[in-house]
Formats: sequence, C-alpha cells, structure tokens
Amino acid sequence: MSPKHSLFDLNAEDAKQEWKKLAAEIRHHNKLYYQKDAPEISDADYDKLFRRLQELEKQFPDLQTPDSPTQQVGAAPLETFAKVKHKVPMLSLNNAFSEKDVRDFVERIQRYLGLSLEEEIEIFAEPKMDGLSFSARYVNGVLEHGATRGDGTIGEDITLNLATILPVNISKNSPHILEIRGEVYLTHDRFHKLNSEREEQGEPVFANPRNAAAGSLRQLDSEITKSRKLSYYIFGWGEVSEPLAGTHAEFLDRVIKLGNFQFNRNNFLLNRKTFKKFDNHIDQKSALDCAVFMIMDFYNNVYGQRSTLPYDIDGTVYKVNRLDWQERLGTVGRAPRWAIAHKFPAEQARTIIEAIDIQVGRTGSLTPVARLKPVNVGGVMVSNATLHNEDEIARKDVRVGDTVVVQRAGDVIPQVVEVDVSKRPSHSHAYTFPDHCPVCGSLAVREEGEVAKRCTGGLLCEAQLVERLKHFVSRNALNIDGLGEKQIEAFWKDGLIKDAVGIFHLHEKAGEIEQREGWGKKSLDNLLTAIEKAKDVQLEKFIFALGIRHIGEITAKLLARHYGSYHAWADAMHKLHEGNEAYGELDNIDGIGETVAHALADFFREPHNSHIVTSLGKLLRIRDAEAVASDSPVAGKTVVFTGTLVKLTRSEAKARAEALGAKVASSVSAKTDYVIAGDDAGSKLAKAKELGVRILNEDEWIAMISG
Ligand code: IVH
Repeated sequence: MSPKHSLFDLNAEDAKQEWKKLAAEIRHHNKLYYQKDAPEISDADYDKLFRRLQELEKQFPDLQTPDSPTQQVGAAPLETFAKVKHKVPMLSLNNAFSEKDVRDFVERIQRYLGLSLEEEIEIFAEPKMDGLSFSARYVNGVLEHGATRGDGTIGEDITLNLATILPVNISKNSPHILEIRGEVYLTHDRFHKLNSEREEQGEPVFANPRNAAAGSLRQLDSEITKSRKLSYYIFGWGEVSEPLAGTHAEFLDRVIKLGNFQFNRNNFLLNRKTFKKFDNHIDQKSALDCAVFMIMDFYNNVYGQRSTLPYDIDGTVYKVNRLDWQERLGTVGRAPRWAIAHKFPAEQARTIIEAIDIQVGRTGSLTPVARLKPVNVGGVMVSNATLHNEDEIARKDVRVGDTVVVQRAGDVIPQVVEVDVSKRPSHSHAYTFPDHCPVCGSLAVREEGEVAKRCTGGLLCEAQLVERLKHFVSRNALNIDGLGEKQIEAFWKDGLIKDAVGIFHLHEKAGEIEQREGWGKKSLDNLLTAIEKAKDVQLEKFIFALGIRHIGEITAKLLARHYGSYHAWADAMHKLHEGNEAYGELDNIDGIGETVAHALADFFREPHNSHIVTSLGKLLRIRDAEAVASDSPVAGKTVVFTGTLVKLTRSEAKARAEALGAKVASSVSAKTDYVIAGDDAGSKLAKAKELGVRILNEDEWIAMISG
C-alpha cells in the first residue's frame, strides 16, 4: 500500500495536499449527484472518499474548515439561485433511433393533421447540440431575465451569467417581449484548455464538454462564467408578444437579425425544392417517402461530419416548419408532437462485472444492477448498468466475473449489451435470481404478464418505503432542495422520518439534526426553508409525488385536471370501490383505464396510505389544478366525441378540447355536458338523446370553441 493510502507516515503537508484533492473531488461528485442527478461513481465509492476525508480531518483538525464537504450538505450554493417560472414551458423532445422511428414521426403528423398523401411537409432540420438549454427574455430590446430549463416549468435565474454570453441589448424594433431559447455549449478547444488549467491547479477535470458547460453556467459568480468562454446557438423561442412569421425558418431568420444572435449554420430547410438539387427523382416520391428520404440524408451527412465539428452533438432535431401546423399538433406530455430528436447510435465499451445487486423499487419491483469495473463510455465514467429483469439476465446469461459490452445512449441508464463468452472465467456459474426480497425477506413473485418480480412485503418492506420517500421529495415531485436520496436514507436509518408526513415534522427535530455529522445551522435552516416552501404544491405534483403504481406525471395531470381540487380528488379516491360510482367516473376519464383505476383503488384500500394522504392534505397547501383557459366556454365541461369528424382528426379534436379546459370522456353519462356527433354516430348519440345531453355537430362545436 502506498503511504498516501495509510495514515501512518503522513506528514501535515502531505495530508493537506491529499485533503485538497479529495475535497475538490467530493465537491465535484456532490454537484453531479445533487444538481445534475448524474453521479459518476457508486454510492459505496463516494462513501470511501468521504470517509477518507473525515479520517484526515480527525488526524489533522486544522483541515476542517467551514467549507469542507464534511461540514456541508449536498451542493448547497445552488439553493441561492432565484427561481423563474417559464410562461411558456421549456419542452423536451421525444427520441427517434432508426429510420422506422423517423417514418412513424412523419406519418403521425400526416395522420394527426389529416393531410392528403401528396401534401408536402416541410421539415426544419438542425444538429442537436449537446449542452444545456437556456431561455433569455428581452423586454423592449433589453435582456431582462435569463433562466435554465429546470424542470421545464421552473428554472434557475442565471441572468447575470447569460449576460456574459448573449447580447444584452438587441434591436429596438424587436417585439415588446421576446424570449429566445437555445443551447449553451463549450467548444472542444475551450474544454481542453479549461481542463488542463484545472489539472495544473489540482482541481478535478470535467468529464465532458456538457458537464463543463453546465458547471460553468450555473455559477453564482458570473465572472467565473465569463472566464469559461461559453458559446451558444439559438434554436427556438418562448413567449413572444407578437407573431413574427409563418414558419420556423422565417422566425429564426428574423430573430437572428434582431439580435445578431449566433445560430448553427448546419441547419437546413428540407423541402422538395431545396432537395431537387441533390436528387432529381424526388418528385416521383410520395410526400412521406420524400420527407423520410431528406431527413435520412441530412442525418447521415451530419453523422458523417460529427468528428470534424468543433463541438459535441448527440443527434439531429427535426421540426415541422409551418407554425400553424406546430400549433395544431401541440404537445403530448412534455414533448411536442411537431418535433423529434434523432439520436446517434449508442457509445460502447468493454468491462468486467464485479457483482450483481438487486435494487428494490418503490412499488416493490426487483431490478438487477451490474456493478462494473469503472469504464469510460463516450466521455462518462460508468460503474453501474441495469440488467433490467430476470428474463434479461437469463437470456444473455450474464454472470459475475463476465467481460461485457456496456453502452450508453443519450440520457438512458447504461445497459449491458452482450457477454464476451470467450473471456468467461472457468469457475463461473449462472446467476440465480432471488425469490425473496433482499431487503425485507418477503416472498418475491411475478404477476402474470409482468416482467418484474415484485417484493410482496408492501408497507413492511423498508426498501419500498424509503424509495417512496425518495420519490416524494424528488425533482418532478415535491422538489425539496437539500433533501436528496442520501439524506432520506440517513434520516430513515436513524428514525428521524418514517413516512412523508414525517418530513413536515422535521423542524421538531432541529436540535438533533444540527448535531449530526455534516450538518450545521446554515444547512439546517436551508432545509427547513425548503420544506416549508414545498408545502405549497400543485395538485398534479402532489398526486404524482405519492408514488402510486402506474401513476406517472401524465396520469397525475389528467387526474388533477379532472377532479380540480385536492378535496374533490381525495373524496373520490377514498370512496373507490370496483363497480361503484366513484370508480366508474374514474374509469371514464379519457386516457385512464382499468390498470390505473385498479392501482388507485388498491392504494387507497390500504389504511396506512389513505391516512397519509389525509394528513398531508391537512399539512400542505395543495393548489387546485390550473384551470386551462378558464375563459373558454367549454372550460370545465365534460365532452364526448363520437362518429367520424371531417374537419378535425379525432386526436386533434381531443387535444384542442383539453387545451381549452374541457374534460374529454370516453362514454356518455348524466355528467356529460356536450356530445359532439360526427357522421355515423351510433350508440353514444342514442344515449345522449335518451339522457337529454346537449348534442352538437362538428361545425357547431368548432363555432363554439372559436367564439
Ligand atoms: S428544440 C420544443 N433544437 O435538446 C423544442 N433542442 O432533448 C425543444 N437541444 O431541451 C427543443 N439542440 O436542450 C431543440 N437544435 C435543437 C437542439 C435542442 C439541442 C436540446 C435542448 C432540449 C433537448 C431536448
């Protein structure tokens, strides 16, 4: 063992040097873990670093300065960024990985808009920058606000930092309000310079340009941001006080001129006219074939040039050029229907499986995880990979000690692609999947049609309870800063919290927390403030936060919109019983089926759960679902579409009605306000007549929602 790894023979100077390196390394991992949700090392390895730092400080108490990672919780500085609400949400993109996915994307657009087979769809194609997105709000031509994407609805205020990158003043002829959106990135050149400077100064290097750009933009000191020499390209916009153009291409053109903004010159407008230059036969193709052909040609070109570009890209992006079509297509979940990201193939590397662990999820599913000898996959250190489930392990015959190919695609969790059987140690044996929960020991079973084995321990299983808590405080749920996975685990272990309600009683244990290792007055104050703030929560986030099986963000939103208020929702949930009225109403919400209804009924049947929901209902200020466009005549009304619609496709009609605040149901009942009957309407129309529900034809409906 080298003296650096032992406390013997360590003199104060050596200790100081080691402490410095270690502290910087831990800060780096804290950032990845707490702010980016992208740890590079396993918890066990992190703990090793942390313990070593504590050891050093014990031996040389002078090292224990207030800014030591042992004296702080998480990556506290970011808590001091103000929050900014995006008037127009910052969306993410769905991914395509193959030509088939691209074809599906174009076909879906055609179908949704009800286009004829010959009608051309112009596509605006762009490289997908691998950086982080920003939104910059100009009011009367002056940069007023700059923000990160955050969770898409609320971002961090980085105005001063963005002002070091973007123009502060733009043309006085700009619209009164103009929100520009784009990607901040670091060129390869700057990235290498930055890393060699950091190496010289003994600071940890950034794993890739994206991390470096993120770390540089989210700095409290804008001088640091400035020194990093970040670049940006604009690719879209948010709120704009007046329409500027009819297409994406024109819009970008105009906006770029207003602010002399940087944009990617490898953007292309794909239409028959521009493409004739490259392929004379394009006229003979259908609109669909033509679009797919052009897109694939663009993709292959950009992919081919990837290594020669001075910045990282991770794919290409395609957008419907016509803005009126974009508007009609709208969004589903958190991504627009009018755009898609076409990702480059995954990056791969070889390494060895050191162990296979089983993780228990919040709904009891047992997920096998391969613990890997850390390996660099396309710029990121990977030490864990998911093995998905029992069948996957058996299919690939993955064993401890095997040499495997792991891959990383986009933001997806690293996966084991294949085993190199030629390298298999002779003594290895096939992996046996446990039939009991490794945490609580309860039987683990596989329900019919399910791939996952589940722990049957339910509320007896600590792992499930802890995972539920982690979910409850996570970013897209209650988003409690300073209460991450590590703190939840530690608090749980020491009995400070045993369920979600306990979080809101933590202030009663302030004295105890302040005494804990790694905590101090400031971090405790921050935590209690964050908890207090989290009490103010939207209904949809609250429902999602409960971590009920099958209730993701989209379903939670549907439920919130349907019931409107916490009380209406909770009352209905407590009454759920298969076959009764409350159950029927739930099952009848468009987009909600048996599985979800069942899951909710199961959840609320458990007294512990319904008790927690009630207690939280009293403790929190749960805000009613935002009435979308409450001034519309159909807001809050329940409508049913039946028969064939001519002017709108069915999905379009549904999406528009929802955007105006209506609830779209799948069957007619006494609660239905309007039935919109197209051609050949059958039993639903008859039922509406029988119940005296108001019936509209398609034109009457359109007149109603346009008026
Ligand atoms: S368009 C609704 N265009 O990719 C449109 N995004 O995976 C939203 N990105 O959050 C984005 N290059 O940070 C768009 N040319 C490009 C892009 C791009 C990079 C990022 C952006 C977005 C993420 C979605």
